[in-house]
Amino acid sequence: MTKEGPEGHFIVLEGGEGAGKSLLGARLAGRLEASGIHTIEVREPGGTPPGEQIRVLLGQSLTPWAEAFAFLLARAELVSEIIKPALESGATVICDRFRASTVAYQGYGRGLSLKRLAEANASATQGLVPDMTIYLDLPPEVGLRRKQGEQGGPATGHEDIAFHERVRDGYRQQLAQAPEGSWLEIDATQPREVVETLAWNALVQLLSIPANK
Ligand code: TMP
Repeated sequence: MTKEGPEGHFIVLEGGEGAGKSLLGARLAGRLEASGIHTIEVREPGGTPPGEQIRVLLGQSLTPWAEAFAFLLARAELVSEIIKPALESGATVICDRFRASTVAYQGYGRGLSLKRLAEANASATQGLVPDMTIYLDLPPEVGLRRKQGEQGGPATGHEDIAFHERVRDGYRQQLAQAPEGSWLEIDATQPREVVETLAWNALVQLLSIPANK
């Protein structure tokens, strides 16, 4: 896909607990920079001072819509203050979680209305849609085992297995409904290097990076 104008590409990493998004994001950003593509890495919730404060707030138990709005507040701030300006300057942005997380966790996981969440998401993001979503799929029991012993973080990370099964189902439903080529699913039970190679190959194609990079 060729883009018109100076806009950079917007890449989103998604997946359940312990899928390996953060490490993959750092590896991909490093490889993009090494290929001469200016890259900015951000995470949700977070990436801005209010977003990081919301991460602390989310450690407490909130009602489902309060929790959803907290994630949306962090997203609205991140889109306006960091992501849009970066894309407009021509940078590529790698974002660890975005609107699909809210659909999977607050929609499928908590049972909030998918229609209302879609509307709220569209407002919070000013309609911004990723050029590519890389979804790391993992059985929840494997991901939760990887994260065992970790303290803190949003309450969503500490729910029971049934909740995380619903989240996984939520991702799969979104994957099934996504326009062709906009989502890449990777089996995250594979070795880290294999996951990275599959993701990198997709970026090489999307950004037309010469194969020898
Ligand atoms: P992470 O930093 O390990 O990805 O954790 C973020 C947690 O927040 C994870 O449990 C998923 C959850 N989350 C939501 O429930 N809804 C959202 O919209 C986002 C961005 C994250």
